[in-house]
Amino acid sequence: MLKRTHNCGRLRLDDAGKKVTLAGWVHSYRDHGNLVFIDLRDREGLTQLVFDPETQPEVHKLARTARCEWVIAANGTVQPRSEGMENPKLPTGQIEVAVRQLEILNVSSTPPFELVDAEKTSEELRLANRYIDLRRPEMQNKLRTRHNVTMVTRDYFDKLGFLEIETPMLAKSTPEGARDFLVPSRLHQNCFYALPQSPQLFKQILMVSGIDKYFQIVRCFRDEDPRADRQAEFTQIDVEMSFVDSNDVIGVHENLVARIWKHILDVDVALPMRRLSYKQAMADYGTDRPDLRFDMKLKDISDIAKQSSFKVFTSTIEKGAIVKGLCAPGGDKYSRSDIEKTLTGFVADYGAKGLAWSRAKTEDGKLTLLGGIAKFFEPESQRQLLELFDAKNGDLLLFVADNQAAANKALAPLRCRLARELNLYDEAGFEFVWVVDFPLFEWNEDEKRYDSLHHPFTSPVEEDLDKLETEPAGICSQAYDIVVNGSEIGGGSIRIHDPKVQRKVFDLLNISKEQAQQRFGFFLRALEYGAPPHGGIAFGLDRIVMLLTGTDNIRDVIAFPKTQRGQCLLTNAPGEVDQKQLDELNLRMQRHSHVIEKKTEEQE
Ligand code: AMO
Ligand code: AMP
Repeated sequence: MLKRTHNCGRLRLDDAGKKVTLAGWVHSYRDHGNLVFIDLRDREGLTQLVFDPETQPEVHKLARTARCEWVIAANGTVQPRSEGMENPKLPTGQIEVAVRQLEILNVSSTPPFELVDAEKTSEELRLANRYIDLRRPEMQNKLRTRHNVTMVTRDYFDKLGFLEIETPMLAKSTPEGARDFLVPSRLHQNCFYALPQSPQLFKQILMVSGIDKYFQIVRCFRDEDPRADRQAEFTQIDVEMSFVDSNDVIGVHENLVARIWKHILDVDVALPMRRLSYKQAMADYGTDRPDLRFDMKLKDISDIAKQSSFKVFTSTIEKGAIVKGLCAPGGDKYSRSDIEKTLTGFVADYGAKGLAWSRAKTEDGKLTLLGGIAKFFEPESQRQLLELFDAKNGDLLLFVADNQAAANKALAPLRCRLARELNLYDEAGFEFVWVVDFPLFEWNEDEKRYDSLHHPFTSPVEEDLDKLETEPAGICSQAYDIVVNGSEIGGGSIRIHDPKVQRKVFDLLNISKEQAQQRFGFFLRALEYGAPPHGGIAFGLDRIVMLLTGTDNIRDVIAFPKTQRGQCLLTNAPGEVDQKQLDELNLRMQRHSHVIEKKTEEQE
C-alpha cells in the first residue's frame, strides 16, 4: 500500500517539485477525455490530482474508473497549476499533484446523497447515513471545534489544580427535575439503576472527601422530549470547588468562557461580565435567559392602561393582572394582517389570549398613536405611553393583558422574534450575562408546595436563613446562570453544607423524612461528617459548541445524536430485545397492549 506523506490540505506553491503520496476520498472527478482531474479529500482539505494519458497511460486508465467516495492513494509530483486554473478559494488552489502511481484502496456504493447537496437533503437521511454526513467539511469542523473546547477546558482546569474525576453512570436517581432513564439490574432483580441527570450529589460528596477542586466532562441523561437545544443525552462541563463564595465560582468560570471564545473564535470577551438580577431580567425581558444583543425592553403599562377605555385592559387590571408590552423599532413594516394573524398567532402558541397593538406615527409634526387600540387612549395617555417606550415614528407597540407570568411567557419570545425579523442585532456578536439573585423557591399552585428554582441543594443567602421558617417565598438563593444571546449555557450555586438546613429545605419541598432518607440518605449522612462550604457549576458543552459554530440545531454538534423522537437513526435504537435478556432481568413485556385493547373494543 502507498503510504501517505502529506494530508490533503497541506501542499502549497513552494512544495512544487516534491514527490508526495496522498490518500483520501474522491470528492469529485472531471474527465476531459485526455486529462482526468480528481479532487482528493481528507479531514484537512482538498487537493487536485491530475492524470495525464501521455505520460502514464495505465494510471490514467485506472483513474477513469474511480467514482465519488472511492478511497484511493496517489503518488506523484507537486506542480503549479497551469495559468488560469488556480483556485483562490482553496488553500491548495495554486498546485496540483501529477500522479504516477494510483492505488484504489476501496470502492464505494453510490452514496444516498451527495456531500455537496447535504444542505438540501433531509436530516433523517443524513442521520441514517451519519458516516457519510460526517465526511462533510462543515461537520468535521464542528467536531473539531468541540474537541478544541474540551482541550482548552481540560488545560485550563488542570493548570488551576482541578482534578478530573469520573462518577458513576449506573447510580441512583439524582434530582434535576427531569424523568430518569432506568437500567434494570440482573443481580438485584426488580431493582433499577438510574442514569445520572448530572453528577450533582457525587461531586458534592467529592468535596466532603477533601478533593477541593473537581471537574469532569461528563455525559448526563434526562428523559425529556428533545428540542432544538436539548437532547436526552448531553454533555456537561461539570465543576465543584470547596471554601468558595459565588464570586469565586463566577470569576473562575467567566475566565474559562473568555478563554474558550478567544481560542476558538479569537473574540475578546469583556470581563467581568455584566450581571442582572432575576427580578430585573423578568421585568425587562420576561425571561431569566435574556438575549441582550438588542434592547427592546418590556414595560408594565398597567398604570396608563387603566385610564383607557379598552375593556380588555381595564377588566384584566381589575382582576389584579397586568398589561405589559414592548415597542418594536421600525415595526411599521408589519401590516395589520401580519399583526392580527401572524404575530397574534405566534403569541397564542405561548398561551396569550390576544395581542393589542398601535403604531407610533408623526402627524403634523407631532408623535401620536395611530390604529389598533389608539382610539381607546386619551391624548395625555398616548403621550405617556410614547414617552415610556421612547417611541419613534414608525415603531410598533404591542401589548398582552394577562397575569405577570403569562404576559412574560408570550412577550419574551415575541421580543426575540421581532428583533430577528427587524435585524436589530449583529448575528455574529455575543452578549454574555450572569443572572443572579434567584428566589430559592417558587410556589407550585397545582401541587400546593414549593419547588426549587434550581435544585434542592442550592443554598439560601445567609441573611435569609431565618426566612426558612417564616417566609420561604422571599428567600434569595446563591445560584447563578450564565446566558449568552438568550441561551443558558451554564448554571450553578453555592450549596447547602449544613445538614439541618438541607433537611429543612426537603421539608419545604414536601419531601418527607422517609422519602429524603430513602432517596438522599447517603448524601445527608455525608453532610454529617465535616462537609466544607462548597459550590460549583455545570456548563452545557453542546450549547457552547452550538454558539461557537453558529448552529441552532444541537444535533449538528453531536457525532451520533438522537432525533426529536429520541431515536438513533443510524443504529435504530431504541430496539426490542431477546426474550432471553428479558428473562435474565425478570422483566415481562405487555406486548402492544394498546393494540390488543383496541381490538377487543372493536370486537365488542
Ligand atoms: P442544569 O440542569 O442547569 O444544572 O444543567 C447545566 C447546563 O447543562 C445544559 N443542559 C442541557 N443541554 C442539552 N440538553 C439538555 N437536555 C440539557 N439540560 C441541561 C444547560 C444547562 O445550563 N447539577 C446542576 C449544575 C450545578 O448546580 O452545578 C445542573 O445540572 O446549558
Ligand atoms: P376581542 O375583544 O377579543 O375581539 O379583541 C380585540 C383586540 O384585543 C384584538 O386585537 C385582540 O388580539 C386583543 N386582545 C384580546 N385579548 C387580549 C389580551 N389578553 N391581551 C392583549 N390583547 C388582547
